[in-house]
Amino acid sequence: MDELAKKYRSHFPILESSCYMISNSLGAMPREAESELMHYTHEWQTEGVEAWHSWFPLVDTVSGLFGKIIGAESQDVTLVHNLTIASALIASCLDFSGKRNKVVFTELHFPTISYLWHGWQKYGAKVHLVKSDDGITVDAQKIINAIDEETLIVPISHVYFRSGALQDIKAIIEKAHSVGALVMVDSYQAAGVVPIDVKELNVDILAAGVLKWLCGGPGAAFMYIRRDHHERFQPAIRGWLGDKEPFDFVMPDVHFAQGMHRFLTSSIQVPCLYTAIPALKIMGEIGVVAIRKNSLSMTQRIIERSDEYEFKVNSPREPHRRGGALTIDPNGITQGKLSTKQINDELIRRRFITDYRPPIGIRVAPHFYNTQEEVDAIMEEMKKIKES
Ligand SMILES: Cc1ncc(COP(=O)(O)O)c(C=O)c1O
Repeated sequence: MDELAKKYRSHFPILESSCYMISNSLGAMPREAESELMHYTHEWQTEGVEAWHSWFPLVDTVSGLFGKIIGAESQDVTLVHNLTIASALIASCLDFSGKRNKVVFTELHFPTISYLWHGWQKYGAKVHLVKSDDGITVDAQKIINAIDEETLIVPISHVYFRSGALQDIKAIIEKAHSVGALVMVDSYQAAGVVPIDVKELNVDILAAGVLKWLCGGPGAAFMYIRRDHHERFQPAIRGWLGDKEPFDFVMPDVHFAQGMHRFLTSSIQVPCLYTAIPALKIMGEIGVVAIRKNSLSMTQRIIERSDEYEFKVNSPREPHRRGGALTIDPNGITQGKLSTKQINDELIRRRFITDYRPPIGIRVAPHFYNTQEEVDAIMEEMKKIKES
C-alpha cells in the first residue's frame, strides 16, 4: 500500500499543500513540467525559427509516449487539438449520404461529443441516443441492440465522466464490427488509470486528452487509428501539415501524408507537447496495470468509508465496472444542513480538492500519488462538514 505514492509523490508539488483528489479533471502537475516549459522558452528565445527543427519531431516522440499507455505504436498515434476536433476529423472522413448514416452513442457521454455529432446532422448524420436507466451507467446490451446495418459509427465513452462508471466496450466493438460499423472510443476518463490495449480491443479509433489522469496539462490530445484505416481515411478537415510535403506549399489541394500525419491539420501546440512529457514518462515507467491495482484499492476504501458514514455511492461498486473516480453524495441517504454543492465548496476551501457534478454528487478521484491516509482524511472531512 502507498508504494507508488512513496516513490513518486515528490514529483507533484501541489500534494504538499492540498489533499488533491481531482485527477479525473486536471491531474497534478509534475515538477518537471516547469523545466520542460523553460526549455521550450529557451529554445524559442535562442533558436527562433530554427527551433522548429526540434519542435516538429516532438509530435512523434510524445505520440510514442502516449501510445505506450494504450498499447499502440507511435506511427498509429498523432497529436490532435482536443476530443471534439478528433471526432470532427473522423466525421469528416465519413460519407453520410447513403442508408448507413446512423451514429449511436449514449446520453451519458461528455456533452461535447454529443454537440459535435448533432452538428453533423446537417451533413446527413442520424443521431441515435441510447438512454441510461439510472443516470450512472448504460447497460452494454442496450448499446449493442441499437447498433444495426444502418450504423456508420459508434462513439463510445470508455468511462462516464459524471459517475466514473467503466463501460464494457469489447462486446460493443465486436457487435459494431459484425455489422460493418466503426467504433471511436473516448478514453479521456480512462487513459492513465484503466489499462487499455487497443490491439486486444481491436478498436478502430481511440482518443484521449492528457490533462486528466495523464497529468500532462491542458491543450493536447492524442488519437490512435487502426493501421488498416490510415490510407482509406481522407479527412475533409485538412490542413497544410497533413500534406506529405508541407514545406513544398503545393496548391490547390493536399496530397495526404502517409499514415497519421494527415490528421495533423495545421499549427501544433508546442508548449503542450513539452508539458505532457514528464508524466507520460513516469506513468510509462510505472505501467497502468500497477496504477489500476492501487486505484481499485483506494476507491474500495472510499466505498467502505461512504457506507460507514451513510453517504450514497453514485458509481458502480463492482471493481470491473468502475474507473478511477467515484461520485459520492453525502446527502444521498440522509440530508444534512448543507447542500452537496455547499459541502464540496467547503471541502475546496479547506484544500481538499474535489468537484461537484449535479445531480449525482462529489467526484473523488485518487491517483497513484495519493495515499490511503489522504483517502480517509477527505472522507472524514466530508463527514465533519456535513455534520457541522
Ligand atoms: C469523457 C470526456 N470526453 C471529452 C472531454 C473533453 O473534450 P475536449 O477535449 O473536446 O475538450 C472530457 C472532459 O473534459 C471528458 O471527460
